[in-house]
Parts: sequence; C-alpha cells; structure tokens
Amino acid sequence: MEYQEIIERRKAILSRPVKPLPEDRLASERKLFTERNKRSLEIFEKAKNLIPGGVEHNLSQNKPFPLAMDRAKGCHMWDVDGNVYVDYLMSGAPIILGHGFDPLDEKIIGIISEKGPATGLTSEYELRAAEEIIRHMPGVEMVRFLQSGTEADMAAVRIARAYTGRQKIVKIGGSYHGWSDQMVFSLHIPGTGSLNSRGIPNGTYANLVDVAPNDFEALEKAFEDNEAGDGIAGVFVEPIGGESGTHPVHPDWNRRIRELCDRYGALLIFDEVVTGFRLAMGGAQEYFGIMPDITVLGKIIGHGYPSAGAVAGRKDVMSVCHGGLGEKIYLGGTLAANPISAAACYYALKLMTEHDAVRRASSYADRLTKAMNDLFATRSDLGFFVYNFGPIMHYVTTSFFSVDLSSPNAFTEIITRKQAADDYQTVTMAHGLCTLAGTRMYTCMQHDEEAMNKTMSVWEYLLSLIPKG
Ligand SMILES: Cc1ncc(COP(=O)(O)O)c(C=O)c1O
Repeated sequence: MEYQEIIERRKAILSRPVKPLPEDRLASERKLFTERNKRSLEIFEKAKNLIPGGVEHNLSQNKPFPLAMDRAKGCHMWDVDGNVYVDYLMSGAPIILGHGFDPLDEKIIGIISEKGPATGLTSEYELRAAEEIIRHMPGVEMVRFLQSGTEADMAAVRIARAYTGRQKIVKIGGSYHGWSDQMVFSLHIPGTGSLNSRGIPNGTYANLVDVAPNDFEALEKAFEDNEAGDGIAGVFVEPIGGESGTHPVHPDWNRRIRELCDRYGALLIFDEVVTGFRLAMGGAQEYFGIMPDITVLGKIIGHGYPSAGAVAGRKDVMSVCHGGLGEKIYLGGTLAANPISAAACYYALKLMTEHDAVRRASSYADRLTKAMNDLFATRSDLGFFVYNFGPIMHYVTTSFFSVDLSSPNAFTEIITRKQAADDYQTVTMAHGLCTLAGTRMYTCMQHDEEAMNKTMSVWEYLLSLIPKG
C-alpha cells in the first residue's frame, strides 16, 4: 500500500468514533482468557512482588494480564498453560528462520559444549560475523559489536559527534532508538517530547533536535538553524518510519535527509535494528538504494540469541572507534562479541541466505496482508486495514498511534483508542494469535497455510464480535 493511501485510511479511521467491543462480549472474552491462562496468572501474581509491575517485557500484551511462555518452535509459541499461538511477535523481529531452527541451534549448542560461552577475548567468530554483515550491507565497511540495539544507538551518537566534531543530533518524532537518556524523546507518537523522561537529567536534550516525520520544511529548518552554532552531527532515521513503519515515511523522505546531510556535512544514521536482514539482506539501505554513513544493528544479528548489537559503517567514520588515548571514543561491553552471539550472527545470516528466508517471510506477509485487507473490506464500517514492508506488517484498527497531538482531547482520544485496540488484542490472544502492540505482525519463513488459515479465522471471529454500523 502506498504512503498516501496509508495516511488517508488512517485519517478516515480517526474521523470516526472508535468501535469498542460490547461490554458483555468483552467480559466473556476476558473470562475465557483468564480460564485458559491460570498458570500465567499465578506467575504474574508472584512476579508482582519480585519484578516491578510483574512484567519487564515492553512488547508483552498485558491486558488482562501478561502471559508467560514456555517454548517456541517454527511459527508457533506455547504458553505455560499449554495453549498454542501462531506467533507474529517473533521475539520482537529477530526471528526470521523460525523459532528453534535446528541447523542454527545445533551450531550454538556445539560451541557452548566444546568451547564455552565467553573468554572476554577475541574469537574467530567475530571476524566471520563481521565479514558476513559487510558482504550483505552495501553501506557497511567495518563493524563494532555491542550487546543491544540501545547500546549500538548510543555508540552511533558518540561516533557521529566524534567524527564531525559537532554536537547536535536530529531525531525524528515517534521513532525508537532504544532507551538511553538522550533518545527517550518523542517516543512512539510524534510530538510527545519529554513525556517519557522521568529520571532523565534536565538539559539532556539540549543537543537533540526533534523533527516531526515527513515535515520537510522543519527538517530543512533544523539544518539551517544549526548551521552557525554547533552544527548537526547526525540524523537518526528508522528508514521505513518510526516504530518500524507505524509512522510510514513519504517516498522522498530518506532521500531528502541524505541530500541535506551531504549539503551540511552531517552523517546519516540508519537504525536498522528491525529492517536489517529482515526487510532485505542488505537492509533498508539496499531496499531504498540510499547509503547511510552509520548503520545500527541489533537483535536480528543474534537471531534471538542474547547479547546482539553492532554499530557499523564507512571505514573513515568507524575509525573514530580506535586509536590512542584521547583519540578514540570510548566503547565497551565485557560480553560483547562473545563466541555465542558472534557465531549466532554468522550462522544465522548464512542460513537466511541459504533458505531464502527474507523472500519466503515476505511472500507470506504479502499474502496475509491481502487476505486481511479482503476480509476488512467486508466491514467497511470499521475501516480497518493492513500494510506491509516485506515481512513487517502493520494493521490499523483504532489508529491510536496517529492521533494528532494538537487536536482537542488528544490524550483522552489516544487512551480510548488504545483501550479498544488492547481489547481486540485480548480476543486475538485468547484465540491463539500473538501480535505486537495490537498493531504489528512480523513473519518468518516458516509461516505456512495452516498458520494463515488459523490467523484468518481469528480475525473473522474478532470482526463478528464488533457490532455492524
Ligand atoms: C529501531 C530500533 N532501534 C533500537 C532498538 C533497541 O534495541 P534493544 O531492544 O536491543 O535495545 C529497537 C528495539 O526494538 C528498535 O526497534
């Protein structure tokens, strides 16, 4: 679906009152959810005393309560009560071969039993992993491994500042670049500013320039306004739009940012934590044919194995990561590039190529997107729709992410719309479909016809619960 159509369809949803589930139906769905998930509820009740809020996974669906998972295989997950789910969370994007992919797991188990998990020193797997990343990503000549996407984003900020000798960083509203102090600004919904900044010192954002997505004028102005002062060191971009495409980008957006970076001598930083090796093996940089100066990678380079992240890019830019005292920037991570995560990266990328994982996951997502849109078209009173960027699918039901903050009662509107979307998610989860944030679905190469049929029957059921008209 093209950008303009997405924007118009979102507007159409926002122009109508939200359609919550009727109270009686919601009550029986919650009852079903609770009856199916007794063990999860017990775990949650105990966890509340040990873990703040009883849950620590941002991507968990928490209404009526979070579920505890037992295992995952292929495109399925099983919870601790033995219920099975067609999984579209895919661990938050990194799983594309499918959960528990034996050829990958066998390699990693071999490394653990034969070599041990870590020495704190170089292993050969680091080189192999770096070679594999560089082979696929056109904008990458050097790689420095870290332990998460958040860390890699933090490193990218530092590299951009060190390389350019400038201070200012541009962040596009609504995008996510991890939870470091300086990046927790205008999260999730453009314009939310410092809403999520409790615990962050005053002044942290002095060098952050917040630009609304697709606001070409504001983008240009940001460069002009900062030309005389500190200057812009870099622009952080989620290349398919904030929140992995929840806020999709105008077709000219990335190219314009590249042009402005070139004109003003700033670095373009593609955060490819989700798009790298998922949108294409060469990431969004291959998909759009636009080369960033710095590429941020995360969980996907470990394919679900822990301690995965890397900052990568052009040789001259990456060179600020080494040198003598006072010359290099400081980076660290005792367990970064340990043999397990480095080998997981190397073997996962090789297996993805061998199994044509991105194409297969994308082809399933294309078919599911069409099937869901065909179904949603039968309920034009709702206006629901789906769009996808390869194996990254977004379904829009209440459109709470795109409420215009300048509109009256914006926050009440967001809360009402989010509540309705959460209730829809309670239904889909209670019937064996696991999605992300009630808005997103990631696919893997093992999603099959059976998964498709089950998925469609759950959506049909959900629609049947929402009164017509
Ligand atoms: C685009 C993007 N950047 C950075 C991150 C942070 O990665 P991590 O959760 O590994 O810290 C995420 C996490 O979802 C992400 O989606």
